[in-house]
Amino acid sequence: MTYQYPSHGQGQGYGQGSGQGQSYGHGYPDSPTAPVVAGWNDDRTGWDTPTAAWSTPPTRARVERPRSGEHLLDVRDLWIEFATRDGVARVVNGVSFHVDPGETLAILGESGSGKSVTAQAVLGILDTPPAVVRSGQALFSGEDLLTMTPERRRQVRGQEIAMVFQDALSALNPVYPVGWQITEALRSRRGVSKAEARRRAVEMMDLVQIPAAAQRIDDYPHQFSGGMRQRVMIAMALAMRPKVLIADEPTTALDVTVQAQIMDLLATLRAELEMALILITHDLGVVADVADRITVMYAGRVVEHADVHTLYGAPAHPYTRGLLASVPRLERRGQGLHSISGTPPNPVAIPAGCAFHPRCPYAQQMCRMTEPTLLRIGRLDRASACHFPPEALDARHA
Ligand SMILES: Nc1ncnc2c1ncn2[C@@H]1O[C@H](COP(=O)(O)OP(=O)(O)OP(=O)(O)O)[C@@H](O)[C@H]1O
Ligand code: SF4
Ligand SMILES: [Mg+2]
Repeated sequence: MTYQYPSHGQGQGYGQGSGQGQSYGHGYPDSPTAPVVAGWNDDRTGWDTPTAAWSTPPTRARVERPRSGEHLLDVRDLWIEFATRDGVARVVNGVSFHVDPGETLAILGESGSGKSVTAQAVLGILDTPPAVVRSGQALFSGEDLLTMTPERRRQVRGQEIAMVFQDALSALNPVYPVGWQITEALRSRRGVSKAEARRRAVEMMDLVQIPAAAQRIDDYPHQFSGGMRQRVMIAMALAMRPKVLIADEPTTALDVTVQAQIMDLLATLRAELEMALILITHDLGVVADVADRITVMYAGRVVEHADVHTLYGAPAHPYTRGLLASVPRLERRGQGLHSISGTPPNPVAIPAGCAFHPRCPYAQQMCRMTEPTLLRIGRLDRASACHFPPEALDARHA
């Protein structure tokens, strides 16, 4: 089934005008040379004469933290940096999210937003050094993955939390048959016999819907298509029946049809195995059908999180609105796509105030000075790190 993107209204600063690749940014809003763009720097609310709704950020509740151990995986206030020749690269800046059994969380953001570094830290495969985990917790059933002994972490990794990577070809060993690779961990860690391992390899290949599994377990990775190799990777990750599966851009290298098949497969397996699934992606369109909740990252920070329907139907943060405007949508057929102008910041020089302000069509003076906090919007599971609630943003472009 294809998710029908609900409309989130016209004139919200995105999706106006037409033309392939048109940006919604058109230069920094209050620069002297900024062009006039409909719904933007018109005379209703000049950038320097904000309306009351804009000049006074409303009081909203801070996001409340559940007690430790309440979630299967609970990442709390994670800060990670790298020492580079150019200075300290602050790549993960206070990231928090959680996931529970049978649930799919998508972590979304442009390239360099810190998604993979976050996942690698959680899984204990981040090289430290060069990375430095400054602070934070990654609680797995209440036990902190970041401070557990290396031995305990090895037990957890692969057995309890597993990861699927983008590039199956380089993740698989070219000189071993796929069946052997799928059951490698079972043999080395659980000591299953050769015959049992072959039986389990076929079972896992069936599970990930590789046709003629029994005949193909002795084939090598290069004998499979890209999509089938990704299924082999998923089978490998699931062989130990982990409670959490982290899939980092699992479909980026695949064509659109195969992407959808792999996403469907992950969703089916998540439900069948009652796993928690974390899908990392830069493509909002890819996760629409499968995610329950979405956490949006920008410059190493969480800028919005919400359930999938709310996020698609009524995105709160200007960055999410920009990402959504770049996703092809049925009801905007023929209008072209809109990309966010500019590029994400260098983590060595993250802009002061709101890190998104140089690219944000809604930016005000205060955005350049004060960093917004992740604040609740209405319900408990929805929050945005913008000085302005969605109504104020909508009013700006109504
Ligand atoms: N070893 C390293 N040394 C210095 N900086 C690093 C290192 N590894 C990652 N980074 C930086 O950390 C930032 C976050 O990287 P990360 O790989 O987490 O991004 P991402 O969100 O996964 O992006 P993508 O969508 O491209 O995979 C990037 O700016 C990257 O350059
Ligand atoms: S706080 Fe950031 S996202 Fe919100 S209006 Fe200001 S610059 Fe844009
Ligand atoms: Mg990545």
